[in-house]
Amino acid sequence: MQTHEIRERFLRHFEANGHTRVPSASLILDDPNLLFVNAGMVQFKPYFLGEVPPPYPRATSVQKCVRTGDIDEVGKTTRHNTFFQMAGNFSFGDYFKEGAIAQAWDLVTKPQSEGGYGFDPKRIWTTVYNDDAESARLWQSVAGLPPERIQYRDATDNYWDMGVAGPGGPCSEIYYDRGPEYGREGGPVVDEDRYLEIWNLVFMQDIRGDGSPKDGYPVLGELPSKNIDTGLGVERVAFLLQGVDNVYETDLVRPVIDKAEELSGRTYGENHADDVRFRVIADHARSGVMLIGDGVTPGNEARGYVLRRLLRRIVRSVRLLGVHEAVLPEFAAVVRDAMSPSYPEIARDFERISDVMRIEEETFLATLSSGSKIFDAAAERTKRAGSAVLPGDKAFQLHDTYGFPIDLTLEMAAEQGLKVDEDGFRTLMEEQRQRAKADAAARKSGHGDLSEYRSLLDTHGETEFLGYTDLEAGCRVIGLLSGGASVPRLGEGERGELVLDRTPFYAESGGQIADTGTLYGSGTQVRVHDVQKIVPGLSVHRVEVVAGEVGLDDKLTGSVDSDRRLSIARSHSATHLVHAAVRGAYGQRAAQAGSLNSPGRMRFDFTSPGAVSADVLTEVEEEVNEYLLQDTPVESYVTSKDKAFELGAIALFGEKYGNQVRVIDMGEYSRELCGGTHVDRIGQLGLVKLVSDSSIGSGVHRIEALVGTDALRHVRKEQLLVSELANTFKVPTDQLPDRISDVLGRLRDAEKEIERLRTERILASAGTLAAGAEDVDGVAVVAEKVTEDIDAQAARSLASEVRNRLGSRPSVVALFLPDGQKVSFVIGTNAAARDKGLAAGELVRSVSEAVDGRGGGKADMAQGGGTNPAGIDEAIGMLRRAVRDGVA
Ligand code: ALA
Repeated sequence: MQTHEIRERFLRHFEANGHTRVPSASLILDDPNLLFVNAGMVQFKPYFLGEVPPPYPRATSVQKCVRTGDIDEVGKTTRHNTFFQMAGNFSFGDYFKEGAIAQAWDLVTKPQSEGGYGFDPKRIWTTVYNDDAESARLWQSVAGLPPERIQYRDATDNYWDMGVAGPGGPCSEIYYDRGPEYGREGGPVVDEDRYLEIWNLVFMQDIRGDGSPKDGYPVLGELPSKNIDTGLGVERVAFLLQGVDNVYETDLVRPVIDKAEELSGRTYGENHADDVRFRVIADHARSGVMLIGDGVTPGNEARGYVLRRLLRRIVRSVRLLGVHEAVLPEFAAVVRDAMSPSYPEIARDFERISDVMRIEEETFLATLSSGSKIFDAAAERTKRAGSAVLPGDKAFQLHDTYGFPIDLTLEMAAEQGLKVDEDGFRTLMEEQRQRAKADAAARKSGHGDLSEYRSLLDTHGETEFLGYTDLEAGCRVIGLLSGGASVPRLGEGERGELVLDRTPFYAESGGQIADTGTLYGSGTQVRVHDVQKIVPGLSVHRVEVVAGEVGLDDKLTGSVDSDRRLSIARSHSATHLVHAAVRGAYGQRAAQAGSLNSPGRMRFDFTSPGAVSADVLTEVEEEVNEYLLQDTPVESYVTSKDKAFELGAIALFGEKYGNQVRVIDMGEYSRELCGGTHVDRIGQLGLVKLVSDSSIGSGVHRIEALVGTDALRHVRKEQLLVSELANTFKVPTDQLPDRISDVLGRLRDAEKEIERLRTERILASAGTLAAGAEDVDGVAVVAEKVTEDIDAQAARSLASEVRNRLGSRPSVVALFLPDGQKVSFVIGTNAAARDKGLAAGELVRSVSEAVDGRGGGKADMAQGGGTNPAGIDEAIGMLRRAVRDGVA
């Protein structure tokens, strides 16, 4: 049975049982605790927690999931996968244990001809949580399972939570017995390879705190209702039903391995080392495509970094399979063909996905080639020092700076007959991990405990936002906090946080920064510096009491700084227009990757393959400004999400939208889902001036623009600058370009002339140097430190000039040029010296050590460089000895 069929049967089964089919959420759903969505329940979390009333009592979905905790293990066994699909059914206070068990059993064992999976009921085992005799009874009464195939386990195995504070509950797992050839008798408690878990039923009823019941911590409290959350491993069911041994051999993954076989000419299943590589490629290519599809781009932090690691591991594995060409787009195409029947957006968006992969691969191949140079130098140094072990700090540097995974370094070292100090490497890695952990902990404590905010939300509901229409409004204080804890009042001069029943102040979101302003009461004046939604729906005002004091239940009048708000609104409206124009120029492939709307200034990031040409930006600017002249009214309305998409409204990656969405229209030109504040008519923008564009990482571009009077001020400033230049150069502005290139030309000529004179002067010093030659066993030797600031080319000319002046007697000239922490040197010999066996290249090698350097060259002239200028005198001594030895 194909994977798509397995998904479809699941969804249909639960639809037939009254569940609403809900599409998979994006992999990058906005949850500060999660890098990626890692379970089907994530998008339903607010319903479990009772933060938002569930729109349906039952739901079913197949959720895209990424778990990246053990990337390094992927491929070593066939068990680990970073991307997988979790099919689930969910009950929000509707059915509980009995319903979940009955429906799961039905689907698992129903014959395939009747729409089920048709697993042999005699091969099904289940586990239940230690004190959950109720579920054990249900498995017997509802499913007819004999008691010996129901096993009890403790919280480590049979308690499920998100890995962080939040909902959780005891669970019951369904296992399939693959048969004696896969392991020992005795059920899942004995052997989880033979008895393979396919489905986890979670009886979601608890709220866990910072510690999990898995580690012996008590649960904090109960959820408002008893719920069901289940997760069936689609890939696992697929490999069982497809009669193969593991997920790598299923219909959705195997094609990537086939492609890798084709490209490398090697065969999967022949040796373990290659198999690991094939599996890494197959797993990571799939995760990579799916992540990019959801808007992640490679970068150096968080999600971007994980993606980068995945892609780079593919490139490296491909290399280790002997392929050195760029291949990621080819793998991406295979993944597209496999995945797009379930995820059509992958096919629609393929060009962009493939471009992101291509660019990352090119970047990494360039990195690999510069890293290889570092590696080669380190390897040579190791060998020269008579060692066979590459130091751990080198391996770490290669990893940290050049993104070389340790096994790549190991592999390259092995090719050179070297080992690597892996312990040293791991110690440094561990130190780095600890540092990162400490940083993360420090960052997190900034948020602190959110329970006070949650309870305000529970008691009072969401903050009503009045600011679409009113910049001034009466409101009541319903929460006062300081440092995350409730306080009864804030006195004059104190800072803290205010929660109001309703507010005209916009809380930062969707790239629009927060409003500022003032709250007034009788004798009270409170300055609002910032507004954040610390928990969804609750606007928290960061304030300072300027006069009087403020207490719970006080009635205040909030007044938004209106000029600033208007200025922010102009920026936000400008962002929509720039977005529309960029999409006009690049099509769907240009996806918004972030934005910032602050007073008078906007920033818009978008992903786009390849370079963004100056022409296009000029066009974008022109188009936007022309459109402003039409002074189209800006309309906002609330409609259903489906209707909005039907109208072609643009939504953003990773944003979670409810069923009702707010749409902003600027005529037919721009239509976006947006909760921000905007101008009434686009003419109010006045002028949109693009001031910079840059690339901020693989395929992501950033446009910055000024809007309204800020744009005008910018233009005026540039104009002023031009007239100052015209003054300085004493020409009318239109003649500036000619004048400047003329001046630059003359400057270049003058520099050349200076250089020529300098060389002349240096060569003049050749006489003095030659005169100082000393005799070493019949060889005229000039070995000097040159402190003049000359380049390598000039140094060679000087050495050969000195050599000429020494005539035909055997002579050796060595010049050392210290430069800060470095030193370069050049050695020349004449024919008579070479006849005596003195080759410049060898002399360079014999003195390098003294200056911690290396180098080489021909017999008549050679050069080198080192990092220890203090060793010059010793090098000169060594040279004399080498001449003596060479001659003897
Ligand atoms: N949320 C449960 C899991 O991820 C079903 O296993």
